[in-house]
Amino acid sequence: MSLVLDPAAQDLLFREARSANTFTDEPVTDEQVQAIYDLVKYGPTAFNQTPLRITLVRSPEARERLVAHMAEGNQPKTASAPLVAILSADNEFHEELPQLFPAAPQIKDIFFAERPARENAAALNAALQAAYFIVGVRAAGLAAGPMTGFDFEGVRKEFLDDDHTPLMVVNIGRPGPDAWHPRSPRLEFDQVVTTV
Ligand SMILES: Cc1cc2nc3c(=O)[nH]c(=O)nc-3n(C[C@H](O)[C@H](O)[C@H](O)COP(=O)(O)O)c2cc1C
Repeated sequence: MSLVLDPAAQDLLFREARSANTFTDEPVTDEQVQAIYDLVKYGPTAFNQTPLRITLVRSPEARERLVAHMAEGNQPKTASAPLVAILSADNEFHEELPQLFPAAPQIKDIFFAERPARENAAALNAALQAAYFIVGVRAAGLAAGPMTGFDFEGVRKEFLDDDHTPLMVVNIGRPGPDAWHPRSPRLEFDQVVTTV
């Protein structure tokens, strides 16, 4: 009994949660997305830099433009999911740093004056936030289908700008028929954890 989280919540977030490949038509509302964000925004990032940005692809016209950039095998999933989000890293996150890390507002200029340093930090910390986001989708009783099989430069040009780097596209909704293959194995504790 080492975990204090309710076992049903453990199942919802991890043991029974799967990466869905098909979805029902049930809509995913802005209220649900806001509740997800308002939960996962508390996940930690370095200096509280919070570089994740989320683009909700809602209109049929925008959805069509996104599908065109997806790998062929991913196209039907992105075309049919009730909601699709493009997750990206804001490489200019340092502009918000004095507000987000008021304890040391000078961090912006000490560590993040140069763009390559910002890109490295944004890639790591936005990826962490993307993981929190996926778990948050599950906390809302929904399934996420994260995908990196798409044309990154195409998506950047179509939906973002040079200051934003796409990380992943996430299909969101309730799982449909045959939503997944059998669960793949995971590495066991002893294969992953060493103690020194
Ligand atoms: C960053 C990331 C990228 C992924 N890219 C794709 C993808 O392009 N296409 C796809 O069908 N699944 C993709 N997946 C889904 C993974 O294959 C899936 O999460 C993994 O096999 C675990 O499946 P499970 O959650 O159902 O156990 C991606 C998952 C992640 C986290």
